[in-house]
Amino acid sequence: PWSAAPFVPESASLGVLRDAVESCRGCPLYARATHGVLGVGPARARVMLIGEQPGDREDVEGLPFVGPAGRVLDEALEEAEIDRDEVFVTNAVKHFKWEPRGKRRIHQKPRAREVEACRPWLEAELARVRPRALVALGATAAQALLGRAFRVTKDRGRVIASPHAPIVLATHHPSVVLRAPDAASRAARRAELVADLRVIAAHLG
Ligand code: URA
Ligand code: SF4
Repeated sequence: PWSAAPFVPESASLGVLRDAVESCRGCPLYARATHGVLGVGPARARVMLIGEQPGDREDVEGLPFVGPAGRVLDEALEEAEIDRDEVFVTNAVKHFKWEPRGKRRIHQKPRAREVEACRPWLEAELARVRPRALVALGATAAQALLGRAFRVTKDRGRVIASPHAPIVLATHHPSVVLRAPDAASRAARRAELVADLRVIAAHLG
């Protein structure tokens, strides 16, 4: 099976991991991407947020959640009174998976074996940061963390027992808010995301 493991330097700092992820060849996704994007945030952050994979903007800039979904996330964090500067933000998959459509690059959902291949990077980040609270944003992150049987639709917003951190919770991916069909459902999804983040804020005290 594909795996990033041979490319992940052992007991390395986040800075060393950040450089190393750029040359990962653990699965085919590196080939079409501009950057391998490691997480960003304090090395001792109490909260780690995990998205799916870099999007178009993130691939260009080499940073997680700097595009439209990042804007939704920033606003939700602010509303939940969680300081983004104190949070470590990363993704389950470190390279942008896309297909061309005209001049545009269209996001493609990573396959289970790509998520699996990339997991050693996430594990390395978890081992360095050792957050108290872990938030899976959307199904890809939730399944990478909690297994493929996990359903965000059913179990979002609930604190789940997990060996990864004392407090683990899954919620919507911010892009769910962007993709909602009308203003009312956009507001509803956004309120759910904020409410779930508030659960984390409450646990941290
Ligand atoms: N969506 C994600 O899952 N991660 C990002 O970094 C940006 C968009
Ligand atoms: Fe390596 Fe992950 Fe990129 Fe695949 S997606 S090449 S496993 S960093």
